Amino acid sequence: MKKDHFAERSTGYDETVYRLRYVDEMAEAIRRHLPLERDMHLLDFGAGTGLLTERIAPEVAEITAVDISPSMISQLQEKSEAIPCRLSLLQKDLCHDELPEILVDGVVSTMTLHHIEDVPGLFQRLMQLLKPGGFAAFCDIDTEDGTFHTIDTGVKHFGFDREEIRQWMETTGFENVDIEDATVIRKPHGEYPAFILWGYRPRG
Ligand SMILES: C[S@@+](CC[C@H](N)C(=O)[O-])C[C@H]1O[C@@H](n2cnc3c(N)ncnc32)[C@H](O)[C@@H]1O
Repeated sequence: MKKDHFAERSTGYDETVYRLRYVDEMAEAIRRHLPLERDMHLLDFGAGTGLLTERIAPEVAEITAVDISPSMISQLQEKSEAIPCRLSLLQKDLCHDELPEILVDGVVSTMTLHHIEDVPGLFQRLMQLLKPGGFAAFCDIDTEDGTFHTIDTGVKHFGFDREEIRQWMETTGFENVDIEDATVIRKPHGEYPAFILWGYRPRG
């Protein structure tokens, strides 16, 4: 069985003030750059306890929240009735497990890419879950010196170089790829700029 890197962190995860602030600002960046609509079905990749899901739920019809961690999914399950859209929870490793048989209008994700070893491979898998014309949007941190995480929760990248990650997305076949500032994460021991990266599955 895979290690649950978030087993000791899931309780109390939603009580960290800097985290609530950056997810607020990342949700705002998603609203600013992507065309969220009331009839959309989104997939929240690495949904965790649902901080992003609960912020964008009022604007869409349905969210499929996917996370590898049983403890994070169980925290999200506890608050699922308060989430104002249709919600499905899937405990899955989206890098290796069989993909769910769904096609969504958009994939959204906050602070999960840096836990993924093969990011271009993940982009290819997520492309298969998108309707033609659907979007994928990822918020994560810029390249850092390794001080962002004080506990190792399965970190594979100390942030990302914007030009490199943008090229990974373009090479996978996404169209109209772009990357912009999302927020600056202010932890007690330092400040970490974060981006929003997005692109669209071609229609043809
Ligand atoms: C830092 S947390 C972010 C949670 C949430 N998106 C937020 O912003 O609060 C990263 C999440 O990604 C999940 N995760 C890591 N690798 C994954 C994978 N291969 N498939 C699905 N979820 C994964 C972890 O279990 C964790 O809940």
